[in-house]
Amino acid sequence: MKLKITTIIALGVIAITSCSNPQASASKVEVSQNKISETPKESTPVTIEDLLLLKKTLLWTEEDDKYLKMAGDVLEPQLDDVLDVWYGYVGGNEHLVYYFNSHGKPSGDYLGKVRVRFKQWVLDLCNRKYDQEWLNYQNEIGLRHTTKKGQTDKVENTPNIVNYRYMMAFIYPITVTIKPFLEKGNKTPEEIEKMHNAWFKAVVLSDILWTKPYIKENHF
Ligand code: HEM
Repeated sequence: MKLKITTIIALGVIAITSCSNPQASASKVEVSQNKISETPKESTPVTIEDLLLLKKTLLWTEEDDKYLKMAGDVLEPQLDDVLDVWYGYVGGNEHLVYYFNSHGKPSGDYLGKVRVRFKQWVLDLCNRKYDQEWLNYQNEIGLRHTTKKGQTDKVENTPNIVNYRYMMAFIYPITVTIKPFLEKGNKTPEEIEKMHNAWFKAVVLSDILWTKPYIKENHF
């Protein structure tokens, strides 16, 4: 496992040189706690009751709320390093960076703009109350991976959907790569484990909500 994480981080370094741009590194200051980065334009049919049942199904407890908040505090000062690893992983895989193409090649501008919202997502996920406004924004993120892909950043000639299979597969790398960052927060091994567990549940929850557009009517 350690070897795999090291490989992903090493790929990160490679990809920062190949995929990042000045805009990406200038994005540091543009995220903040307890704020959804933009107001969503559409409301989701997913209700708070649906959300509560999903959380129940994920064995979500109040302890998860507490440790997710702790994870947010540990991750916030490391957000750029986290994003370097994730972008490295994407940048090191041609079949993934493809989705950030514009006119057939990776767009530094697109990658840089999404990077800012990605960081905001981490903070929102750890700190925000999951209310109807949050649910609506998850709907918006789902649309941005599908029917609204490329629209927010006005990207020309980009693949018009992120394929479903990769939406699912991403859960593992997004979960496993966060652990070394959680370990850097001066917390006990038990606290690290609990933060990681809560993070895993929150990523799964996000991904379920985001993949609604891929699911047949009435099957969600
Ligand atoms: C667990 C799975 C995933 C997570 C946690 C994730 C996270 C995110 C976040 C937070 C954003 C920004 C949302 C916003 O606009 O506020 C985003 C956008 C984006 N992601 Fe993902 N993502 C996942 C799967 C994937 C996969 C598999 C790809 C393919 C490489 C991908 C490619 C993209 C692209 C191209 C955008 C920009 C969409 C747009 O045009 O607005 N994502 N993702």
